[in-house]
Amino acid sequence: MTDSLTADRPDTAISKDHADPHFRESILGGLFSERKYIESKWLYDQKGSHLFDAITELEEYYPTRVETGILRARGNEIANLARPGSILLELGSGSSLKTRLLLDQMTDLGGYVPFDISADHLGASVRDLRADYPDLSVFPVIGDFTRPVTLPGPLAEKEKILFFPGSTIGNFEAEAAVELLRTLRRIENVTAFIVGIDLVKDKETLIRAYDDREGVTAEFNLNLLTRINRELDGTFDLNAFRHEARWNSEGSRIEMHLVSLAHQSVQVAGKTISFEMGETIHTENSHKYEKEKFRGLAAQTGWSVRVFWTDPKEYFALAVLT
Ligand code: SAH
Ligand code: TRP
Repeated sequence: MTDSLTADRPDTAISKDHADPHFRESILGGLFSERKYIESKWLYDQKGSHLFDAITELEEYYPTRVETGILRARGNEIANLARPGSILLELGSGSSLKTRLLLDQMTDLGGYVPFDISADHLGASVRDLRADYPDLSVFPVIGDFTRPVTLPGPLAEKEKILFFPGSTIGNFEAEAAVELLRTLRRIENVTAFIVGIDLVKDKETLIRAYDDREGVTAEFNLNLLTRINRELDGTFDLNAFRHEARWNSEGSRIEMHLVSLAHQSVQVAGKTISFEMGETIHTENSHKYEKEKFRGLAAQTGWSVRVFWTDPKEYFALAVLT
């Protein structure tokens, strides 16, 4: 379901307990499959969103730092992308921090639409943004971008720039990424699409980015079990699972798992799930691309890459698509 919040009633975003009806179905579906998994969009409850922000500040987590650097370096090009009156639509906007680099360049915007599944966090981000950009119209939308993205009527007609940073597209497997790019093609009047992709690099750097010394990423991953305990009457013992980040070279991706430290049974929503010792719940993929591979993927869906903006070490790329 997509709820739209009006500009004058931002508190709609922070007042409700958004127990998602899809949560139970999705979690049980994943935990009862042959290879246990949890869909990664559930990582972002209120605590998860805060933990993700903490990840972006870690020394080991280079993607945020590098992507932000690229955006800073490309100020002029960014300023030229949006015609006056265009809307900036951001998918998975989180705290909307990188967005500020765009907002500072795109001075004649007709509005900003942050779109995110994490309702409470979206509300807080919007309040901060409105305080710092009093002349900007902000139209937050709570929604799931894996479902058709619909916008309130007046916004649908306006010219739009899409922004999808954070290598969030990397969290989808190739088929799902293609499906997502197709879904986004259906949004009307898009004049440019800026998407952040993390590039292939040495394994040690990659693993460290997803398994930091302070254990913030571990806490982020384990928080899924806390959420299940709270929202689905789960009985997960957080000490009986540990976080693991693995490099899957065939899939060109980092995989996040929760490893069971014992042979054990857990209750979730009145059902019993059993774990072998060492069995894992697969919780996230973060695909690392070669630029040309991404170009091919986009081309399958009718998008074409105009340019890749990268950093000198080619750690990360922003692709500008039309
Ligand atoms: N854009 C920010 C945040 C990236 S984290 C950055 O680049 O740092 C990913 C964000 O996407 C989170 O805020 C999460 O809540 C949101 N998200 C994840 N899956 C989603 C989905 N299926 N639909 C909408 N938002 C989603
Ligand atoms: N989009 C981010 C990425 O792939 C999400 C992310 C960062 C993440 N660190 C994580 C997801 C740790 C799960 C666990 O880089």
